[in-house]
Amino acid sequence: MKLGILLSGRGSNFEAIARNVRTGKIGCEIGFVFSNRPNAPGLARARELGFPSGVIESAGRDRTEFDAQVADLLKQHGVDLVCLAGYMRLLSGGFISQFPRRILNIHPSLLPAFPGLDAQYQALMHGVKVTGCTVHFVDENLDAGPILLQATVPVLDEDTADTLSARILAEEHRIYPEAIAWVLNGNFRIEGRRVIRT
Ligand code: GRF
Repeated sequence: MKLGILLSGRGSNFEAIARNVRTGKIGCEIGFVFSNRPNAPGLARARELGFPSGVIESAGRDRTEFDAQVADLLKQHGVDLVCLAGYMRLLSGGFISQFPRRILNIHPSLLPAFPGLDAQYQALMHGVKVTGCTVHFVDENLDAGPILLQATVPVLDEDTADTLSARILAEEHRIYPEAIAWVLNGNFRIEGRRVIRT
């Protein structure tokens, strides 16, 4: 099985996945790392680590056409499961239909609370006492597909968006590889929005 990682930025989730692949906790290869941003630090890291990688600048591009190009690249590299890791673009229906139930995302809140940008800041400003992160299947809506795993994180009185984000990130690095291993094993079924272990 081959993973395709899509990222736009730092790439710490990509590195956590790569570590788990290296140590055999996820039984697959990283087949391709793609970025829509040429300067993404995560892309530079993928190159350093020697993974096949590619970049196509997305700014100003038509979404359907751009996504078709990305899907072609992933298919050329034999990607079975697509993992969004800080990929700052909504995917088109055409892309999603090429990888049915084969696209995952990680989001830094307990969905459906605080979808979209700056989820940690949204949680802090809302005054919630507990937040966390969510791994979910991707559909055409933003941060909305069926949920695989979640982890909770307390919000402390002294937290800033940065300290809270760091505490959530540690949990992201733990549950994303776990969810990927689970999906690759295929031990689940989906009933409506519920993802049930089998
Ligand atoms: C993470 O907080 C992830 O939940 C969100 O984007 C951020 C990506 O961080 N989707 P990184 O690039 O993996 O370090």
